[in-house]
Amino acid sequence: MSKSNTKIRKCLFPAAGYGTRFLPATKAIPKEMLPVLTKPLLQYGVEEAITADIETMAIVTGRGKRAIEDHFDISYELEHQIKGTSKEHYLTEIRKVITNCTFSYTRQIEMKGLGHAILSGETLIGDEPFAVILADDLCDNEGESVLLQMTKLYEKYKCSIVAVEEIPMDETNKYGVIAGDPLEESVLRVTNMVEKPDPKDAPSNLAIIGRYILTPDIFDIIRDTKPGKGGEIQITDALLTQANEGRVIAYKFEGTRFDCGSVDGFVEATNYFYGKSKS
Ligand code: G1P
Repeated sequence: MSKSNTKIRKCLFPAAGYGTRFLPATKAIPKEMLPVLTKPLLQYGVEEAITADIETMAIVTGRGKRAIEDHFDISYELEHQIKGTSKEHYLTEIRKVITNCTFSYTRQIEMKGLGHAILSGETLIGDEPFAVILADDLCDNEGESVLLQMTKLYEKYKCSIVAVEEIPMDETNKYGVIAGDPLEESVLRVTNMVEKPDPKDAPSNLAIIGRYILTPDIFDIIRDTKPGKGGEIQITDALLTQANEGRVIAYKFEGTRFDCGSVDGFVEATNYFYGKSKS
């Protein structure tokens, strides 16, 4: 069976970044562990992957990120203290995550960009298509999760997929930006992609957000990809190589996305989920 026919079974979470925009909170706590209400950002991402029927979580960490491993593990002392008390329900969700998934970790030794972080995860993924979630893009949808929408699309197109949304033109320098030809409603075949272009150079206002499906040949391509914007190895540049062969599609997802890498987005997400929890 060709590898491209394989179902998406694994999700990669690049989680090695410093989170400088949230200092001093992120001095000793990984940014992926910052909570929106009571749940760390990364747990939202893992739960989204579970909705897409993914059970293997591959996490690329770095120095100072051990809290992530402890979070997705049993704390016997806590379990013992809380068992049979009125507080036990607080652990229900995380217990479900721990029981239903396996977690594997590798460390990104040097911070050389998102492409490099994804390449660091190769050892956890192997030779099969996989999903990528950037946990600071927090997504929510009343119907199917964004990643489930994408894994379903993968069944049809069997190629790399990036999630996109329209952004104000003056924000193109914060995102990877694509151009493409319409294939069907909400789906484009990508013809160009540029990492964080100035508005005057942007090929459109369709920005990539932190959800990807990647075919495994991306690893070899990243290895051959030269540092780009900011001197970093960019996944956007690696994907352009596939796009030039017609092997990348962009998907305008259904749902809401919060940029929890910024304080404003984080506050918006908090208010949104708080409102939802009260309704
Ligand atoms: C990364 C990618 C960028 C993408 C963005 C989505 O940038 O490089 O192409 O649009 O994630 O959040 P970062 O936000 O890590 O700078």
